[in-house]
This record gives sequence, structure tokens and C-alpha cells, in this order.
Amino acid sequence: MADVRRAADTETRSRRPTILLDCDPGHDDAIAIVAAAHYANLVGITTVAGNAPLERTTYNALVMRDLLGIDVAVHSGSGRPLVAEPKFAAFVHGESGLDGADLPPPTTALDGTHGVEFIIETCRANEGIWIVATGPLTNIGLVLRVAPDIAKRIAGISLMGGGTFGNRSTMAEFNIWADPEAASIVFDYGGQLVMAGLDVTHQFQATPERIAQITAMPGQLASIMSDLFGFFAATYLARHEPGSIDGPAVHDPLAVLALTHPDLFQRQHQHVSIEVSGELTRGMTVIDRRLLVERHAPNCDVLTSIDADRAFELVAQSIAHFST
Ligand code: BDR
Ligand code: CA
Repeated sequence: MADVRRAADTETRSRRPTILLDCDPGHDDAIAIVAAAHYANLVGITTVAGNAPLERTTYNALVMRDLLGIDVAVHSGSGRPLVAEPKFAAFVHGESGLDGADLPPPTTALDGTHGVEFIIETCRANEGIWIVATGPLTNIGLVLRVAPDIAKRIAGISLMGGGTFGNRSTMAEFNIWADPEAASIVFDYGGQLVMAGLDVTHQFQATPERIAQITAMPGQLASIMSDLFGFFAATYLARHEPGSIDGPAVHDPLAVLALTHPDLFQRQHQHVSIEVSGELTRGMTVIDRRLLVERHAPNCDVLTSIDADRAFELVAQSIAHFST
């Protein structure tokens, strides 16, 4: 009975937006791919250097496409940030970007054109696409510079990044820190913007109970996701003070769920800009939280809280869907 109610609940509150996913898989990017493939009309995946070098994030995206058995184009994008030196996140995701599981090598080929070109062509051919970005914003910044008309053709950009505290430096979250100049272009682009920052993603942790739920599921995808969660949990727990977290923050799927299941979240419409030059604060998302009449006009829906139990249930359902 509870399951029936939950299924009905999920159905009534969900939307099926058309999404183009730009990512750097990455354990949580892999989960974002699963959620996007299940809950959205996923029209393409583009990759960017971030958690690992581009060759590897692209390889990982192809692995995920094959595991899900989906017919979605995968295009490789930018291999380095616009200005910053490339720096990866092996200390969180391992050298491969997806350490921890025995991944079957890709059996399908990469699609030809550069990711930036693919995004421009796809958004010009189809109005109203949501760009979901779960890695450094290099590709999206380039798209907006090379083809400024895209800003008015898309429905918006939903991204994982930023927050009122950092994880790569004191004030900067990894995706923004990795390419602040690109992030600055994106936050200034003038259209709809949704930000899943660390304030909300840290409320969405893969606790041992939640990982056990995935481990108990039958099928190849669930088994691989369980192994990936295990690795991700180990690196997160090792990097945090004992007792400060219950499991890894599952950041990236929230940029998808913010569109497909908006009722899961509380949000605030605020102005956010990117610090590109601060010695201590480069890569920080500067959120204008003042209640003064004279403040910057809001440009972003900042997600502030989440119904984590329901969100994880949705993630689990999406994994179960592809895990045969
Ligand atoms: C972000 O950085 C990456 O390590 C994750 O994939 C996520 O997109 C969290 O700061
Ligand atoms: Ca990511």
C-alpha cells in the first residue's frame, strides 16, 4: 500500500523535462546519468575534464550509456578549463574517476562532433531544452560565448556547484573552483538558473542504510552502483572529521531532480556571482542574502533544502529500473 501511494505520489509531482547533461563522471555524475535517463527526456550527454581527465570522463560516460542500454549521444567536450590549470579529483573519485567497481569496457562508439558544437546544434534545433551541468562549467561557458543566441533558446541551466562553504578550498566548491571564469559566464548569462550547491547536497548523503538498499537489489547495474557507492563512501569518510557525516554527499543527481521533482526542494531566488580573483576566495559563489531593498536583482534559484528520504527513494527506483 505504501509503495502504491509512493508511486502515485512520485508520478503526480514529477515532470519530464528535456535535458542535455554535461558531466565529468565521477561517482555522483554516474548517478545523475541514471536519474536523467529515467525521469527526463535525455537528448544527449557531453563530457568535460573535471573529476578526471577528459579521456576518462568520456570513457566513463560511455560505460554508463552501455550499462543503461540507452540510445543517447555521448560527445566529448573541453579537455581543460578556460584559464585555470587543469586539476582533477582523484582523491575523491580515484584515478579513473569511477574507481571501486569492475566496469565493463564500452561497446558503443563516441559520437563525432565536439561537445560544445553538439550542445549548440541541439539547442538551436530544439527550443526549450534544460542544460544540466554536473561538472566544471567550461563547455557551457564556451557555448554561451560562441553562440550567445543559445541563452534565449534554452529553458534554463540547472547546475551542481557552489554553496555558502567550500569543499576544494575554504570557500570554493570543486566544480566552480575548477573553472571560475566559465562559471562566471554561466551565472551572468541572464536566463533561468538553478543551483544545487553544497548547502543542499550535503543534506543528501548515502548513509550505510541507503547503500545497503542498493546492495540488496538484483541485477548488474545495482551491483556496480553498490560498489561505486562503497568507494565513494570510503573516500568521503576518510576526508571528514569522524562523526561529521553519515556518508558521501550525493551531489550531482540533485541538479536533475530539481527539474524532474521540484517539490522535493525548498529554494530561494537570489543573486549569485562568481569570485574570480580573490586570493582566498577564487571560485566562491557570492550569494547576496541581504534583505535590503537595494540589493542585486536575483539571477538564480538557490536550492536550500531537500526531502532526502524521498529523493533517495527516487534514485533507488531509477537504478532498479535499469538493473535487470
Ligand atoms: C562536485 O565535484 C565533483 O567531485 C562531484 O562530481 C560533484 O559534481 C561536488 O563538489
Ligand atoms: Ca560532477
